[in-house]
Order: sequence, then structure tokens, then C-alpha cells
Amino acid sequence: MPEQLSEEVSAEQSLQETAASAETAVSGASDLDALAELRVKYLGKKGAITAVLRGLGQLPQDARPRLGRLANEVRDRISAQLEEREEFLKRKSRETRLAAETMDITLPGRPVPIGRRHILAQTDRRVKEIFVGLGFEVAVGPEMESDYYNFEALNIPADHPAREMWDSFYLGDGMLLRTHTSPVQIRAMERKSPPLRVVSSGKCFRRDAVDATHSFMFHQLEGFMADRNVTFGDLKGILITFAREMFGKDRKAKFRPSYFPFTEPSAEMEIDCFACSGEGCRICHTGWLEILGCGMIHPRVLGRVGIDSEEYTGFAFGMGIERIAMLRHGIDDIRLFFENDIRFLAQF
Ligand code: DAH
Repeated sequence: MPEQLSEEVSAEQSLQETAASAETAVSGASDLDALAELRVKYLGKKGAITAVLRGLGQLPQDARPRLGRLANEVRDRISAQLEEREEFLKRKSRETRLAAETMDITLPGRPVPIGRRHILAQTDRRVKEIFVGLGFEVAVGPEMESDYYNFEALNIPADHPAREMWDSFYLGDGMLLRTHTSPVQIRAMERKSPPLRVVSSGKCFRRDAVDATHSFMFHQLEGFMADRNVTFGDLKGILITFAREMFGKDRKAKFRPSYFPFTEPSAEMEIDCFACSGEGCRICHTGWLEILGCGMIHPRVLGRVGIDSEEYTGFAFGMGIERIAMLRHGIDDIRLFFENDIRFLAQF
């Protein structure tokens, strides 16, 4: 065989072999990296096809077009096979990923534990709701109070023996942690003139040793109404309505005379026990439950805030939120409210 002819034959052979081996290799490539390597190997600058194309110049003139076309064909075929395989591998890997990520949307969900309001917050809300329904507005006052608002303005001067009723945490500079919510009455009356119907609740602090019925921190709700011609009858009407909303519509009430420096006359309100209807039980012992302190606002208290006590009168009341919640739910130890034992709190 003449030399040139044999070169032509071997170039053709080399192309055919390249085509065959590329087809096998590409169809066996198992991932995209392997495919990238094959692309370099067969179609790259140092690949078999490039070598043939480069060698075309050495071939006889009349063989060049044919071999050139053949080389291009082989290159295009391998390129198409690579493309097809790549497409296939990509689809497969996407399918594998989707299969792995499939979720069974028919599986029932895991229950999410739902929290709840603390029983004291619930009680506070309920009490306020009732008074708001009776036309009262809600005010807030500071937990850190001055001696003036906590005592003086409420007709409890510095050396008044009634101060013994409230063992206080003093902060210095005439400030203390409020021992009751009554100072909010003063603040409210300073801000606006009658007619006024206001309730306010929040934390109070007393230097009491902790036991089943005492806590150094507790909550009170205060209320008052001031207008022309407000009478003790209005006090009874409003407070009995409240008690029946809170403890049941058949409640009977009685008012026992009491003493508070900021009211005159003063009273404590009792209701017949809703648990035993007055028979006497573990909650009430006597058949009666004391639920709040109240009275007609002392003229001196009105005078302090510049309200003419000849023209206006008012009544006021104060209750312990813990006490209301304890009565309402038969809870016998105030410490339970603050221990945050979820087994207790989850019952309400
Ligand atoms: N501040 C009183 C206390 O802490 C409760 C109280 C009694 C408030 C009578 C009042 C009231 O407004 O009229 O014991």
C-alpha cells in the first residue's frame, strides 16, 4: 500500500475506533464528573479527533474533504451523545433527590402544645371586663410610688397609726414600692375632673412573711366613681352587679362596717359562698366570703386633688386579684400562683 493511502486508512480507522470507544464510554458514564472527563478526552485539544483534524494537511488533497467531513461527523455525534447522557444523568439525580425529599402529606401532624394566660391574668381580665361593661375606664399607675401618693394624699399622714396596715418596702428619697393600688385614684382625679369611673390593677408589695395567704408581691384591682350625687346606694348597686357577674347571678351580699383612712364610711363586702350557698365549707368556713374593701371617698381625699366635696361625692373599692382567683377556683395557697408549676397552671 502506498504510504499516503495507508495514512488515510489509519486516520479513518482511528476515527471509527474513537467513535466506538466514545459511545461505550459515554453510555457507561455514571456521573457528571466522569462525563466532563470524557468530553476533554474525546473532544479536547489533545483528543483523538483534534489530532486527525490537525493531520488533515498531511493527507492527499482528494482524501481531505472526506476525512474532514468524517471527523466532523464523529465529533458532532460524540458531542450529541455527551449532551444526551448529561441530560439523562441530571434528570436521574433530580429524580433521586425528589424521591428522597418526598413527604407524606397524609401523615397527621405533631400536636403543638398551646400556652395559656396565667390564671391571675385571666382573673384580672375578667374583673376589668365586668367593670368596663359598667362604664368604667382602665388606668395604670406606677409600681414605684412616692410616699405622697401611696399614703399622704390618701389621708394617711406620716405618723398615722394606720400606716401599720401596710408594711412597706422603702426605696429612699420619699419613694417606696406601692403597698396598694389606691394611689392610682389620686393620679386619676388629678388628671381629670368628675364625672369619673376608673379601674386600675397591678402589682403591690408589702413586707410580709410568705405563707399560704401572704406574699410580698401580689395584685390588686382598684376602682372608684366620682360625680354629683353618688351615694352608698350606687356603691352597692355597682359592687353587687360585679359580684353576681363574677360569682354567679344568685349571690347575696352584705356590707360590714370597716375602717380605711381614705373612705368614710368604710365597709367590707361579703358574698354568700357560691360553693356551698352559705352552708359552710372548706372555702368559706362561715358561709360568707369577704371579697373587697370599699367606702365613700373621704372628703379630705377629694379636697387634696381639688375636687369640691360639697358638689361631688364618690365611692371607691379595692380587691385582691389573688384572693378573687383563690375563691373562684378553690385554691388554698397563694404561693401556687408564683411557683410556675405547669401542672398547677395548666388547670386553668
Ligand atoms: N387599699 C386597700 C388595701 O390595700 C383596699 C381598699 C379598701 C381600697 C377600700 C379602696 C377602698 O379603694 O375604698 O387594703
